[in-house]
Amino acid sequence: MAVIRKHIVVFSPGLSAAHLERLAAQHEVHDFSDRASPFDDADFIAALAQAHGLIGVRLAWTAERLALAPQLEALSSISVGVDNYDTDTLDARAITLCHTPDVLTETTADTAFALILATARRVVELASRVRNGQWQTPTGPAEFGVDVHHKQIGIVGMGRIGAAIARRAHFGFAMPVAYHNRSRAPALEAELDARYMTFDEVLADSDFVVATVPLGPTTENLFDAHAFAQMKPGAIFINIARGAVVDEAALVDALDNGPLRAAGLDVFRGEPIDANNPLAGRDDIVALPHIGSATVETRAAMADLAVDNLLAALAGKTPPSTFDPSR
Ligand code: DGY
Repeated sequence: MAVIRKHIVVFSPGLSAAHLERLAAQHEVHDFSDRASPFDDADFIAALAQAHGLIGVRLAWTAERLALAPQLEALSSISVGVDNYDTDTLDARAITLCHTPDVLTETTADTAFALILATARRVVELASRVRNGQWQTPTGPAEFGVDVHHKQIGIVGMGRIGAAIARRAHFGFAMPVAYHNRSRAPALEAELDARYMTFDEVLADSDFVVATVPLGPTTENLFDAHAFAQMKPGAIFINIARGAVVDEAALVDALDNGPLRAAGLDVFRGEPIDANNPLAGRDDIVALPHIGSATVETRAAMADLAVDNLLAALAGKTPPSTFDPSR
């Protein structure tokens, strides 16, 4: 039987030459991964007109943009988060949406812990003093941080990544685990002695509050002035979810005027941020450039899975990781 070659548009970096070859062995590949603003490119728009598959990450696909691809069958994101995509339009047009959960869970949980340790122990601030030749006297109370071990962690969003953070906290740092989630996780409660609480209770009771919720209409600005006001004096806030779950002005206010001691942020409302952003350049914020899953091994695994997903979807098979909003 003749194999039908379909058209695939690559809309961001993230695939290696070997990944592109795997796609090109079966389909026509239109690679726009080097374009900073692909929608400004007439060739990209022309390629969309014949595209059956899209693959990439971090480009917003609104209904209007998806309309440029009338033959689209599948969108394969090299990410776990799918907040960049208009899922109502994808559903209405029966376009398969695939993403890359599971393979990034442990790496992203490591990033959360890097932020927990860095904020509590002031790692970035104090290391930069050494780098700048400012370590001239023995360290004293002015340089002390706060302990992580045995402090309560409150996880808002107990999905796969939240659970991996909770395991690190419980088994590695003897931290009591509290959590809030759409649904309870009885197995995890039994495994980690984790306590389910309301959102406000998690905020009021935890020394570290970690945001791991997906971005959506119910979580946008979830961490607003009211939420920060509930937190304990000296609490540390960590966000590895999406920037838009936080009211960033309220966060700055909670650092300046209490109750927060510090914040560790991997994500921002408008990325990338520059040095003029109020969240950059503060000693009480450890700001990372959205590196949650950014390791050699994990990004390769994500790209492998995204390619597997797209090839399966275009072949009419069930992809390994179709997006499931209930998970
Ligand atoms: C993800 O996988 O969702 C990461 O945040 C990259 O966008």
